[in-house]
Amino acid sequence: MPHFDFKIEYFEKIDSTNTELKRRAQMGAPSGTVLVADEQTAGRGRMGRSFFSPRGSGLYMSLLIRPISLENAGLITTLTAVSVARALETMGVSVHIKWINDLVSGGKKLCGILAESGIAEGEPFAVIGIGINLRKTAFPPELSEIATSIESQTGIIPHRDQLVHEILKEFSHLYETMQINSSFVMDEYRARCMTIGQTVRVTPLSGTPYDAIALSVEDDGTLLVRPLCPENASPIRLSSAEVSARFIEN
Ligand code: BTN
Repeated sequence: MPHFDFKIEYFEKIDSTNTELKRRAQMGAPSGTVLVADEQTAGRGRMGRSFFSPRGSGLYMSLLIRPISLENAGLITTLTAVSVARALETMGVSVHIKWINDLVSGGKKLCGILAESGIAEGEPFAVIGIGINLRKTAFPPELSEIATSIESQTGIIPHRDQLVHEILKEFSHLYETMQINSSFVMDEYRARCMTIGQTVRVTPLSGTPYDAIALSVEDDGTLLVRPLCPENASPIRLSSAEVSARFIEN
């Protein structure tokens, strides 16, 4: 029996599917509400960044989950990353996960995930936004070196609405699995995660950036790193809220 009763609503144009779904969550929208847009005029990414969302070239969707259990809240981004990766794999596209919320191919980003939480009528909810670059696109100059599309990397253009359904199917299945065995989901995440063993630059929200070796992704989704300086520094556990980890170019 599916855990969620998904109801999908399509928009030609919207400011941001996440913003609209948070508004609707406050107005009582049910768990499983999904918004999909052809274009976003104010698409949002993590850390206050914008998300380039031109018409017709990407998949822009948000999913409402309510209520959420607070033990699992931190794992929602990792669960979503695995769901999207698995959905793409069923369409012949293989991708890697860059901790914590990016899907990449050929070293460039082709999908970002923005999980946001809120409280309505005393209960916590999550709005999970997924943005995937499907088709070759003229990215603005600041993105052209770091962003790519599935078409550019693989020659495959997944059918958008079929991909939405595959993502929801994988999400539903993994969400149920996570209630029983969260390390299964994390093993799936680790198997696709390219960050482990890499040198990363850690940029704390406050404090000085530093370089570190990524050691492991823990079962709670945190990234364990060992700073390069001083030698023999103790490992540090990073949560998504605290850092932006970027690969260091060699
Ligand atoms: C990131 O890369 O930092 C996260 C990007 C998330 C983009 C998606 S597109 C659908 C949903 N609506 C938004 O405004 N953002 C998310």
